[in-house]
Amino acid sequence: MTTLLLENLHFLSLFSLILLLSAHTTKSQISPNAQPAKPIIIQPYIIDYRNGTVSRYISSPPSFVPAPNDAHVQSKDIVIPSSSNHNLRARVFLPARPEPGRKIPVLIYFHGGAFCIGSPFSWGDSHYVARVSAETRVLAIAIDYSLYPEFTVPAPYDDAWAALEWVAAHTSRMGPGHDWWVARYGDLKRIFVGGDSAGGNVAHNLAIRAGMGHGPKITGLFLAMPYFLGSKRVPLEPKYITSSPNYKVWPYVCGNCSGGVDNGYMNPFGPGAPSIARLGCRKLLVYTAEVDELRGRGVWYYEKVKKSKWAGQAHWVEARGKTHIFHISEPEDPATTKLIQDLSAFINSD
Ligand SMILES: *[C@@H]1O[C@H](CO)[C@@H](O)[C@H](O)[C@H]1NC(C)=O
Ligand SMILES: *[C@@H]1O[C@H](CO)[C@@H](O)[C@H](O)[C@H]1NC(C)=O
Repeated sequence: MTTLLLENLHFLSLFSLILLLSAHTTKSQISPNAQPAKPIIIQPYIIDYRNGTVSRYISSPPSFVPAPNDAHVQSKDIVIPSSSNHNLRARVFLPARPEPGRKIPVLIYFHGGAFCIGSPFSWGDSHYVARVSAETRVLAIAIDYSLYPEFTVPAPYDDAWAALEWVAAHTSRMGPGHDWWVARYGDLKRIFVGGDSAGGNVAHNLAIRAGMGHGPKITGLFLAMPYFLGSKRVPLEPKYITSSPNYKVWPYVCGNCSGGVDNGYMNPFGPGAPSIARLGCRKLLVYTAEVDELRGRGVWYYEKVKKSKWAGQAHWVEARGKTHIFHISEPEDPATTKLIQDLSAFINSD
């Protein structure tokens, strides 16, 4: 009895050994290192599982705050009809007590988040754009443009273009799919586009596209701490930029683009980029923050535009001692109030 069991065990273990060996042989034929590839985590944007799946880093859905309506501003969420097959959502803000019959400038605004995260419906962005609308007296439209990994470049730029065309198509008469706030209060001769970080990149590319053809005209471009990169380091740009999440995430977002970080979408002065003289607006405000890895590129952008053949007026303001997107993360800071005042002066002066 005992002998039989032992013999059986012996037989079993021999059998398992053969199985193990053959399994090992099969595996090593597939890959010499049988260990699964470690995921690449690019915080706070994405996780690449290296099995064909890339997901957004944030596991919980982004925060959503209802459209604010108070003593300073009214707002609502809308869907912009777009030729692409998804709903282009947006949040529209109108200063409280608008004067009947008086048109006000329109600001089309794009949030930040390296093309992967962020939303006009998050507390930070909604609160900021509401303040901008109330304090600069503009009709602001914050666009929920397409993000990675659901979409790749050029989807965000196509959404931006759809939003601009939609705004410009409003006349004082309402058309199908139009919004009556835009029709009634939007001054289509004073359309501004702007954004923070990746949103600044979107706004720049929108202004370039507006300058190329016969499409809608833009009055001014506002870039807050814009997200631009390039393979050749520029003055004030830190050496560590190449290991920054902002640098590492771009090849994902722009998977099919040639030139990597020198692609014209990301490097406005890269080899294939359209001439900056084509910037389709007549004034520009670049806002940089002193303690920001993207500061160097922002200042460089301003310098290059100023030296170019572009016929408009370029302005640059730097927030001393402030970090990237401080105006979203530190709404109570005096520097945020100053940024909104500077933006107001930019929009409301000639
Ligand atoms: C890749 O791995 C992740 C995490 O284990 C998993 O959720 C996902 O479904 C996998 N994708 C594929 C295509 O196997
Ligand atoms: C690249 O282009 C191909 C063919 O158009 C498309 O199937 C693929 O999804 C694209 N990849 C990315 C990352 O955009």
